[in-house]
Amino acid sequence: MVVLFVVVAGTAFGQPQAAPYKVVDGYKVDANTLQGFRTWRAAACDRCHGANQEGMVGPSLVNSLKTLSKEDFIKTVRDGRLEKGMQSFGNSKMVMDNIDNLYAYLKGRSDGAITRAKVEKMP
Ligand code: HEC
Repeated sequence: MVVLFVVVAGTAFGQPQAAPYKVVDGYKVDANTLQGFRTWRAAACDRCHGANQEGMVGPSLVNSLKTLSKEDFIKTVRDGRLEKGMQSFGNSKMVMDNIDNLYAYLKGRSDGAITRAKVEKMP
C-alpha cells in the first residue's frame, strides 16, 4: 500500500487550515496583512508589546500567538484585560474593522514566516 503525504503550500507548520497571510522574502505581504501591520502601528500596540512584538510591559505576542486561539485573540483585543494592564479596543472602529488583518500579521510574525516587523506590499 502506498501512502502519499501531500504538503499544501501555505499551511504553516502542519496546521490544518491555510495560513491567514501570504508572504515572500519574509517581509513582502498581501494587502490584508499589510493593513494589519498598519493597524498595529496606528493603534500603537507596540507601546506595550514592543516594536518587534517581542514584549515589553505586555507579553511577547510572537510567543502568545503560538498557543492563543484566534477567538481568544479577538476577545482579548476587544475586551482587554483591564485589571492586568491590557486595554480594550472594542471602541476602536479601526482596530475592530481590521481585526482579521491584525491577526494575520501577528500570526505571520509568530509563525516565523514574517521575519521582520516592518512589512511592505507584495509586488
Ligand atoms: C497599555 C499597554 C498595552 C497596549 C497599548 C496593548 N496591550 Fe496587549 N497586553 C498588555 C498586557 C499588560 C497584557 C497581559 C495581560 C495578562 O497578563 O493577561 C496584554 C495581553 C495581550 C494579549 C494576550 C496575550 C496572551 O498571551 O494571552 C494580546 C493578544 C494582546 N495583548 C494584543 C494587543 C494588541 C493587538 C494591541 C493593539 C491593538 C495591544 N495588545 C495593545 C498591554 C497592552
